[in-house]
Amino acid sequence: MSDRFVRITEVGPRDGLQNEKQVIPAEAKVAFVDLLSEARFPEIEVSSFVSPKWVPQLGDAAEVFARIRRRPGTVYSALVPNERGMEGALAARADKIAVFAAASESFSQRNTGGSIDEVLARFVPVIAAARAAGLPVRGYVSCVVRCPYEGPVAPGAVRTVVDRLLALGVDEIDLGETLGVAVPDDIARLYDGIAPAVAPGRTTLHLHDTNGRALDNARAALALGVRSFDSSAGGLGGCPYAPGARGNVDTVSLLSMLESEGYETGVDRAAAAAAIASIRQALRPAAS
Ligand code: HMG
Ligand code: MG
Repeated sequence: MSDRFVRITEVGPRDGLQNEKQVIPAEAKVAFVDLLSEARFPEIEVSSFVSPKWVPQLGDAAEVFARIRRRPGTVYSALVPNERGMEGALAARADKIAVFAAASESFSQRNTGGSIDEVLARFVPVIAAARAAGLPVRGYVSCVVRCPYEGPVAPGAVRTVVDRLLALGVDEIDLGETLGVAVPDDIARLYDGIAPAVAPGRTTLHLHDTNGRALDNARAALALGVRSFDSSAGGLGGCPYAPGARGNVDTVSLLSMLESEGYETGVDRAAAAAAIASIRQALRPAAS
């Protein structure tokens, strides 16, 4: 693959919609995913098989997966926290699953109701089931720069979780800058810290954009050799258990930046904009 190719995973249907106050009807989510498929993203994170008590916004994951039109060549993935979620993902015929851990104990407790050790232990049967079904596994690490409860997170703490996820057998490491407060120097320190465990080109960077530096951070990561990013249509997103965090880096802004710097993504920017317009319409408060 060319060194100028950058892989974009559109996480708007999952990260974007999990943080909206309103619960969007499944029909609007399906229309959103179908339009994103037309934009030819290589991967779309469609939903989460998490507890609907924790994230009611995505309680219709099974219905959404059942109704989307799958474009050959697009990977339709889902977040899975435990064995119960894995059963849901398998029944829904997700193409890939994402397990999610954190580099900070407090965030792990608040987001997933368990310590880092407990959460990683839940992944053992999940990853075994994924292997048996031939599904690739993404391993997220959240709070790679800062935790909303503990403050700055040392790159060494990230490295420990990266090592443990790789030892469990994940295929891809996804580094979550959950709070969206990083600056380019933080990105350089992060990759320096994890370098012995995983090369930048084998990671995905998941940038939130609370402070407006996400594109600068993406540029810093590109210079280090990162060639896979998550982004969200319209810059929607955030984690309900990360107070203060704003949306993911906006997909169209990221695509424009990459294009202007001579990178290819294979994504149709105008079609991506149409998908954003459709979900914005669904998010508009009903006229009273
Ligand atoms: P818990 O309450 O500690 O565990 O939740 P539990 O086993 O006691 O389960 C509680 C209830 O949920 C039970 O129901 C279970 O059956 C049910 P009840 O008996 O009370 O009726 N349950 C489930 N239902 C459906 N699907 C399941 C499931 N599991 C249990 N899979 C748990 C533990 C992990 C389930 C919970 O903490 C959870 O769902 N957390 C998910 C939170 C979440 O989705 N956060 C956002 C995603 S992560 C993120 O945004 C960061 C990321 O974007 C990267 C970045 O930005 O850094 C990825
Ligand atoms: Mg996120």
